[in-house]
Amino acid sequence: MMDNTIAVLEQVLLKAISKDAVEEWIERYAIPFKELMAYYKCAIMRVETKFKVLNENFSLMSDSNPIENIESRLKSPKSIVDKMIRYNIPFTVDSIEKNLHDVAGVRVTCSYLSNIYELEEAFLNQDDVTLIQRKDYIENPKPNGYRSLHLIISVPIFLQKEKKEMMVELQLRTLAMDTWASFEHKIRYKKQNGRITDGVSAELLECANLCTELDKKMEHIESIAHL
Ligand code: GTP
Ligand code: MG
Repeated sequence: MMDNTIAVLEQVLLKAISKDAVEEWIERYAIPFKELMAYYKCAIMRVETKFKVLNENFSLMSDSNPIENIESRLKSPKSIVDKMIRYNIPFTVDSIEKNLHDVAGVRVTCSYLSNIYELEEAFLNQDDVTLIQRKDYIENPKPNGYRSLHLIISVPIFLQKEKKEMMVELQLRTLAMDTWASFEHKIRYKKQNGRITDGVSAELLECANLCTELDKKMEHIESIAHL
């Protein structure tokens, strides 16, 4: 964690609450906030290791690695505060832990569509993983064409004197889904308020459908390549 976390947080909070309230907040919550962020970092490490182990294990069994890439991120103080304002969440550290389910995020990019569900099953079968929420945007893509499997899970982290359950948002997707999501994000974020024209939306949806086709074709090729 960067040393300037609290300075950044102070600046961001100033937009939401008065200077006095910010000073009071920092006095009370600066250390608990830093601690909480460190715990999320530990949870990310744990989840990452679990997927690395599964990747090794799957490759031993099938001679191919199902995971192309694992990316992790800790939500920035600015995004945390923005989300608390957006959802009207009380400005306390406990409430960050209780109400924000995506402070810790891990994205697993797989080669094939079937890898996503195989990995999901193996991951959720682990004793210490608890499923909190599941959103299958592959079975039910978002209207704009976005596809990925989203899981909110919790894993324990073992501290000096206690065990703590931490929530992590997981996104599992194929290379094609990831490519589409990266482009869409770039295109949307260039626009003010993320608003794009109907024409651009339609073309993006068309690309999303091409990606779905690509995933299906690749899965088929993979299945006949070993015959
Ligand atoms: P948030 O308040 O944004 O967290 O919404 P939510 O809790 O309903 O979560 P959701 O499962 O819809 O999406 C969470 C994350 O998935 C986002 O932060 C993005 O990383 C990704 N995501 C969801 N929808 C899209 C999309 O349309 N395009 C792209 N590029 N990414 C998306
Ligand atoms: Mg989010």
